[in-house]
Amino acid sequence: MAVPDLTQQQLDDIYAFAVDLGRRAGQLLMESIEKRMDGEEQQTVEEKENAVDIVTQTDEDVEIFIKTAIQNKYPSHKFLGEESYAKGQSRDYLIDEHPTWCIDPLDGTVNFTHIFPMFCVSLGFIVNHRPLIGVIYAPFQDQLFSSCPNRGAWLNEKRRLPLLRNPVPPMPSNAPSKCIFSCEWGKDRRDIPDGNMQRKIESFVNMAADAGGRGGKGGMVHGMRSLGSATLDLAYTAMGSFDIWWEGGCWEWDVAAGIAILLEAGGLVTTANPPEDVDTAPIEDVRLGSRLYLAIRPAGPSATETGRESQERTVREVWRRVRHLEYTRPGA
Ligand code: IPD
Ligand code: CA
Repeated sequence: MAVPDLTQQQLDDIYAFAVDLGRRAGQLLMESIEKRMDGEEQQTVEEKENAVDIVTQTDEDVEIFIKTAIQNKYPSHKFLGEESYAKGQSRDYLIDEHPTWCIDPLDGTVNFTHIFPMFCVSLGFIVNHRPLIGVIYAPFQDQLFSSCPNRGAWLNEKRRLPLLRNPVPPMPSNAPSKCIFSCEWGKDRRDIPDGNMQRKIESFVNMAADAGGRGGKGGMVHGMRSLGSATLDLAYTAMGSFDIWWEGGCWEWDVAAGIAILLEAGGLVTTANPPEDVDTAPIEDVRLGSRLYLAIRPAGPSATETGRESQERTVREVWRRVRHLEYTRPGA
């Protein structure tokens, strides 16, 4: 069945619904944390794949709240949520071309359990595999990130993203030097020789090391940051606060809303894994379910390059310094 194009009016309506839903769901996260802070409620934490892959009753409750609201308003849309997926048997990529809500009721669950403020609701609306609408609400900071096609990407619906836009700065001429590099340790903590965790560590050290170091791989980035929430990492890249985000291992609900917002802001998202020929390989749009993501902030032109050229140059400079990560995903 062909997927009909959505009109701008339909997109605007879905966006307004998503913003309201994101705020209401975020309020539920905040109420839960306030009960804990006031000593009225204890937190129950269950482990999923391992001791750092955790779920709380709040994740479950807020997912049901979001799912019910979406199914009532848009019964023909498909729904994929982290906790519903976790209960199913399949670990395949299940999204097809039909309009689909891809949501994480609580991204940054570890942060949430530690009352580290970087946690949020993340609502992505996808058509034809492309994240079109994104809403991320981080209630502790009262930060709402949102985007709708042709309407821009916004912080709290007031401040257009990226934050610096008069003009939008190009990527630094010697990127990744002078960049803030964001990355995550993730949940694969198997300490095996040349495993994903060791490859990440090697990549992180390459990006941090001084420019002459590591056999020419030293990136001398300005700083390394991990928010502990993939979708907030992407939102911060859309702001332009992060220049680069590199990550392997998270899932489509961790990135769908963030990718929509970053693309609408003018960012670029491709694969984390370096191709064989980093100098000439085409820089393709990321596959949503690939679990391998490299994001570059919005960039404006310089005297010698377009913004896109400076983003692509940065992609190749990152690929030169990072290791290939192993995440296979049927259907992605
Ligand atoms: C996790 C966060 C984290 C990323 C993990 C995700 P969760 O999501 O986004 O930053 O490194 O891969 O699974 O479990 O907090 O929703
Ligand atoms: Ca989650």
